[in-house]
Amino acid sequence: MHRIHEIKSNFDSDIRNVSTIEQLEELRVKYIGRKGLITTAFTFLKDVEASQKPKFGAELNKAKKEIEAAFGKKKSSLGSTKGSVVKMDVTLPGRKNYLGRKHPLIQVADEIKNIFKSFGFSIEDGPEIETDYYNFEALNIPKSHPARAMQDTLYITEDIVLRTHTSPVQIRVMEERKPPIRIIAPGRVYRRDTPDATHSPFFHQVEGLVVGETVTFADLKGVIQAFAHRMFGKDAKVRFRPSFFPFTEPSAEYDVWFNGKWMEISGCGMVHPNVFKSVGIDPQKYSGYAFGMGIDRVAMLKYNVKDIRLFFENDLRFLSQF
Ligand code: PHE
Repeated sequence: MHRIHEIKSNFDSDIRNVSTIEQLEELRVKYIGRKGLITTAFTFLKDVEASQKPKFGAELNKAKKEIEAAFGKKKSSLGSTKGSVVKMDVTLPGRKNYLGRKHPLIQVADEIKNIFKSFGFSIEDGPEIETDYYNFEALNIPKSHPARAMQDTLYITEDIVLRTHTSPVQIRVMEERKPPIRIIAPGRVYRRDTPDATHSPFFHQVEGLVVGETVTFADLKGVIQAFAHRMFGKDAKVRFRPSFFPFTEPSAEYDVWFNGKWMEISGCGMVHPNVFKSVGIDPQKYSGYAFGMGIDRVAMLKYNVKDIRLFFENDLRFLSQF
């Protein structure tokens, strides 16, 4: 009897010092394991005096139950404490945090802006919903002009259109300030085109306009060339092909060679005298050049993207490469 109480009081002090699951397991083996103190105490039962047997047995069972209960309590308290062995599979892959980033076209537009800023251009903005006047008339494209067919658009009313190019910003800027002018105007434009690998009903342009007293076509070529070198590296080449735009004369289209191929970027030319007249700038005194730049085209060339539609499908497998 005395022995049972001794075991129990030893156990009570032992379990108070337990702080890990491993220590608890050692204690379990020591007391109620197959050769534990309590377990073996049952074998003494046969040597106990007959009159004492029931009492001894009852005490032993009580001690065993108390010890088992104490184990259960300790185990659950250890399980919820930090620093002990938590149920966690350390071989599982971690959870990844996905960081957002700029769309590749925005990245390319930012690069274009920074290059022209470093050339001394300022950045202008204009509305995507334009009047027929700014989008066509003031740019020397009268109502019946065949050039309108190439830039067919969505008419909101007969006089309000989704702009087909960023060139109307030229007019807005020249109406507001006098030369010298040196601006670019990036933005989205719209055309009634059926989507395919190289066409989208909306796309992005950067307009450029420089007006001064001695501005020449050579300046235009120099700026486009310098831009191409900054954007694509020293090996990039530029070529100009004669073309026609109602708002420039002479006009050209220009291509950039990079990564083994030529890509048509947009049009350019010397500001047409009729355009100057529509904004009240004297074409005898001033001259200027203008250029367009397809941001999507620059991005396709730079990253070797073969289908413009990829930029607008929002497929993360594509976008996350940039
Ligand atoms: N606006 C023309 C286009 O979208 C490009 C251009 C801009 C041509 C400026 C000449 C000068 O096709």
